[in-house]
Amino acid sequence: MKTRYIDLIEQTFDFPQREFGFDKDTLTWNGLPLMDIIKKHGTPLRIMYLPKIGEKVDLARGYFATAFKEHGYQGTYDYFYCTKSNQFSYVIREVLKKGVSLETSSAYDVDIIEQLMASGEMPRNAIILCNGYKDERYIRNIGRLANSGVNVVPIIDNMNELWALDGVIEGPCDIGIRIAAEEAPKFEFYTSRLGIGYKDIIPFYIRNVGKQRKFRLKLMHFFINTGISDSAYYWNELTKCVNVYCDLKKLCPTLDTLDIGGGLPIDNRLDRHFDVEYMIGEIVGRIKDICDENDVDEPNLYSEFGSYTVGDSGATIFSILNQKKQNEKERWNMIDGSFMTTLPDSWAINRRFIMLPINNWQDEYERVFLGGMTCDSDDYYNSEQHVNAIYMPRYREDRPQYLGFFNTGAYQDTLGGYGGIQHCLIPKPKYVLIDRLPDGTLTDRVFSEIQSSGQMLGLLGYTKMEEPALQNRER
Ligand SMILES: Cc1ncc(COP(=O)(O)O)c(C=O)c1O
Repeated sequence: MKTRYIDLIEQTFDFPQREFGFDKDTLTWNGLPLMDIIKKHGTPLRIMYLPKIGEKVDLARGYFATAFKEHGYQGTYDYFYCTKSNQFSYVIREVLKKGVSLETSSAYDVDIIEQLMASGEMPRNAIILCNGYKDERYIRNIGRLANSGVNVVPIIDNMNELWALDGVIEGPCDIGIRIAAEEAPKFEFYTSRLGIGYKDIIPFYIRNVGKQRKFRLKLMHFFINTGISDSAYYWNELTKCVNVYCDLKKLCPTLDTLDIGGGLPIDNRLDRHFDVEYMIGEIVGRIKDICDENDVDEPNLYSEFGSYTVGDSGATIFSILNQKKQNEKERWNMIDGSFMTTLPDSWAINRRFIMLPINNWQDEYERVFLGGMTCDSDDYYNSEQHVNAIYMPRYREDRPQYLGFFNTGAYQDTLGGYGGIQHCLIPKPKYVLIDRLPDGTLTDRVFSEIQSSGQMLGLLGYTKMEEPALQNRER
């Protein structure tokens, strides 16, 4: 009988596949020998594999180019990166290397742009999309950026923003309008709170935007909460949006761009692969068809892919500290960290990531639950979508067991409050950036050490203990 972990996986999926492989029976990811990295840096460990970011940008651009050719699409395509998916400087630098421009969502994001332009890392002629709800601080920062000559396109979320921007921008300035999509059928609200409802867009243009001279309406933005999916709901919303674009275009000659937002998914399971190329082809084809039906030139396209750009460059690695057998059926493998604070989406929205053990694949497997170290009973990870349960190599006290969660590069650090106060004061893992030299050699550098007691106590307002004293205590 086949009872080894490797047998289980080979019977369940096509494996090894995509970014996963083996190096002497231990798992590799994007060609990285994970065991070597663990031996060098220990766990819990957060890694980012930087070359993946540029690869994703190239891939998406290639898919749009193919789709444009196939459908005889006359517009242009520009790739924007939605900074909120992961604002860390090393991510932004990777996207800038590809000539990608940025989409901001808050006042402090604008400070990042100013810093990048001052240091020369971002060209001053880059287009900056300013999305999101705009409070006074954000409006002020957008005004400062626009008045310094930067090509800012604020995207109006609600009608008041137009007047607020008028107060701070000397003009002229391009603007966009965000369309509020209808929410997915299962959602508890009908219409997204983000943007301006379909019915209100044309009257808003006729009564307000069209009557003033400072702002030129350049783009319409559309983004749905559930992301891009091959579903009746997505196609329906896209169709409604492109129809509004066409109606508006007939009134507003400066409108020439459709921003299809973010939401391009990444894989979170091994048995299903989202066909990005097909999806982009379909989106481009449908936009073209609707514009043809309306006798309107097809728009230039912008996207603001966040997760797609950065999600699958991240992995989070833990060790199993111990196994607690609570009863005959429940074996809890306790990890050396917390799901709630390091993978908050797994707790808050029940999101699943690709999860695989890193070593001991030749050992027998067993069904387990994974428990985090906080005192919260919700700090656990259960039911992989592919197998309806979690299986791991059988726990043994006499050898370490490591496991990795993959494609964790988007949102987890910011939602988890990187470097802040953590639930039960479980520290943030050590953070390592991995890159490749042009000849393929791997390099790694520590971005931050595991969060220290001194850092947390300082945030809590306790007197800072001298580091040597703390280190003595930690020994
Ligand atoms: C306006 C806007 N654009 C882009 C994105 C990025 O979405 P994703 O990370 O799913 O690509 C978001 C995410 O919430 C968003 O609100």
